[in-house]
Amino acid sequence: MAQKVSRRDFFKVGGMAGVAASAVGLGIGSILGAPAEARAETITVTDFVYTCPLCGRQTTDYDALVKHFEEEHPEAAVPECATLAINGTEFKVQVEPHWTLRETLLKAVGLTGNAKEMCDRGGCGSCTVLIDGVPALSCTTLAVECQGKQIETSEGIAADERWRPLVEAYAKHDAAQCGYCTPGQFTVAKYIIEKYGQPTEEQIRAELSGNICRCGTYSRHVQAIQEAAAAIEGGN
Ligand code: FES
Ligand code: FES
Repeated sequence: MAQKVSRRDFFKVGGMAGVAASAVGLGIGSILGAPAEARAETITVTDFVYTCPLCGRQTTDYDALVKHFEEEHPEAAVPECATLAINGTEFKVQVEPHWTLRETLLKAVGLTGNAKEMCDRGGCGSCTVLIDGVPALSCTTLAVECQGKQIETSEGIAADERWRPLVEAYAKHDAAQCGYCTPGQFTVAKYIIEKYGQPTEEQIRAELSGNICRCGTYSRHVQAIQEAAAAIEGGN
């Protein structure tokens, strides 16, 4: 008789090392997920350990485990694994079919900027990421829908030297206060500069109209984005 194996049984993720941001990251960088210069050290997902639930064999290589499972336990079905391209890196992640992209970024990849929990129902915009260059709410997007697409988060944008003027302008103009809404606003800011080059106040306010800030930083985003746009020269 075929053995039934759940997805949870199949994967035992051994750990995600170094997910916590360092103490030096208490400025705009940490609000966006981690300081850009520390990003490579602090948000490195490592040491995955996959355990076969039927015989206990362990491997750090997903493909090797799938091969083992197919050869040694052909009677059991192999669960699926999603591959997501996040900030230019491909991540193989095990997700439940109902997991949103926000949950997946937080639980499976260890990102904390756009992925932290806010309204989680499409009302505030704080979870906004770019999917193939266009803003999308990660709390209302299924992770499995994102395979084959390019996902950008505030961490990836802040770590890109080309977008350093945007980070600096956000810090200079105090565009982040409590910081809850900031990763979503910041991600849309990149989209605005790429779309308009030198955006007007009206264009910025219209594009950011879905991003709610309870601290009332709205005017500061306009100042920061316009100043950064001039420095970035239209994102080109
Ligand atoms: S957390 Fe996604 S819109 Fe509020
Ligand atoms: S900075 Fe506090 S919610 Fe926007």
